[in-house]
Amino acid sequence: MDIRFLGHSCFELSDGAGTNVLIDPFLTGNPKAAVTADELHPTTILLSHGHADHFGDTISIATRTGAEVIATTELARELSEDGVQARDTNLGGTDEFEWGSVKLVPALHDSRTPKGHSNIPAGLVIDFEGTVVYHLGDTALFSDLSLVGRRRAVDVAIIPIGGHYTMDRHDAVDAADFIGAKTIIPCHYNTFPAIETDDGAFQTDIEQTLDATCVVLEPGAVHQA
Ligand code: NI
Ligand code: MN
Repeated sequence: MDIRFLGHSCFELSDGAGTNVLIDPFLTGNPKAAVTADELHPTTILLSHGHADHFGDTISIATRTGAEVIATTELARELSEDGVQARDTNLGGTDEFEWGSVKLVPALHDSRTPKGHSNIPAGLVIDFEGTVVYHLGDTALFSDLSLVGRRRAVDVAIIPIGGHYTMDRHDAVDAADFIGAKTIIPCHYNTFPAIETDDGAFQTDIEQTLDATCVVLEPGAVHQA
């Protein structure tokens, strides 16, 4: 499978055979966006939470493509009101697809829907055709991150490192240790001044501290997992 970084927290998982799972499609207004929203053809869109730098172009992409959206309950209901096909899963729940599954797990953060309703942030544990990718969404470091990999080992963890709104690159090393994935991909940094950080130092810390590889992707780059 291909994991393509599209900037900030936006990733696309693809099998090269027509299945494209798009995560947190913030492209319009994203200074690091690798593509425009109308270049994408997802079959499913996954949202960690309703903040604008994650929700992004969800409505326009879903409306154009007919992609189904997975989001926590209040956000999914709001999308349904806007005519988007959405599943109202909540934390702890798992959605099944032809290509695998998505489980929503806790993230320690805050959020609102675009229309101002309460929204619980989530992490996304994605089984994509047998490879488990855990996109942490926006979260601080908390000890329950260590529970996520207990039921099923995580292959690739996508972790925010920018600080200010989420854990910083130092806490992200502890998060990676809790999760236990062999491959770590950083995200949610260097998009705006408030979240500037040193990805090379994070990579060094991961690889000197843990039995894991840190893959730093430039926007537009692909990691094969
Ligand atoms: Ni957020
Ligand atoms: Mn964010």
